[in-house]
Amino acid sequence: MVDRLLGRLRRLTYKNSSRVHMQRVNEAFARSVPAGARVLDAGAGSCPYRELFDHAVYESADLQGVDKPYGEITYCCDLRNIPVEDGTFDFILFNQTLEHMAEPQAALKELARVLKPGGRLLCTAPLFYEEHEAPHDYFRFTQFAHRYLFEEAGFEIERLEWLEGYLGTLAHQLDRAAIALPYHASAYGLGASRWLMPPTAVSIKLLFTLLSGLMSRLDARHRFTDAGYPKNYVVVARRLPEPATPAT
Ligand SMILES: C[S@@+](CC[C@H](N)C(=O)[O-])C[C@H]1O[C@@H](n2cnc3c(N)ncnc32)[C@H](O)[C@@H]1O
Repeated sequence: MVDRLLGRLRRLTYKNSSRVHMQRVNEAFARSVPAGARVLDAGAGSCPYRELFDHAVYESADLQGVDKPYGEITYCCDLRNIPVEDGTFDFILFNQTLEHMAEPQAALKELARVLKPGGRLLCTAPLFYEEHEAPHDYFRFTQFAHRYLFEEAGFEIERLEWLEGYLGTLAHQLDRAAIALPYHASAYGLGASRWLMPPTAVSIKLLFTLLSGLMSRLDARHRFTDAGYPKNYVVVARRLPEPATPAT
């Protein structure tokens, strides 16, 4: 009963601001892609951004190893080994996939290989998000890890910024807590807490649901990035030209 009522309230109030911002950065990236350019969506999943690239030649790569619906995938492959020639693509999308790479460095080097020198890549990846797509969820990346990995793989970082603001991160955590916090007496052991905690937990769940709804909507309209931490980082990186061959 409590779960059903809170679920209904959550559906009325919570807005996933990450989706809003993910759409925004992908739209901006798509606008920078000239007509006819060749684009690879690496780790495309259900291909949620496919239609943004209708003016380009859109192709997708995914291992398709998880039990979920996939879009139309051009290359069913591991991103460490994409079956195309060097420098095939002008642009790469790499959304919410870096954390699923058991060897992120190898995957980024492969993406650098298949991207033309000077080609650009958009990456979004989580810093503060729960495990998902188990068991293929390996890492979370700080801004320093992003910089290290991309530069080491042969990219120059053009932009590295928060995807959401802190209110978006907080909204997500409050939402998760509102769902996960137990309110049954048996969760709180013996003694007074057994009787005190259930009504307290229900009040906290209600408060968190309302706060999460408010903060998620504020974050969707305006990102606060002066303090706190993001749920995801966004990177726009350019593939460096091949290093010059030393003269003999
Ligand atoms: C969280 S989903 C992201 C999907 C999509 N990019 C999006 O933003 O909705 C991560 C995707 O990476 C794919 N993936 C995981 N490991 C992979 C690997 N080693 N090679 C290729 N794709 C992989 C999964 O199948 C999954 O579709």
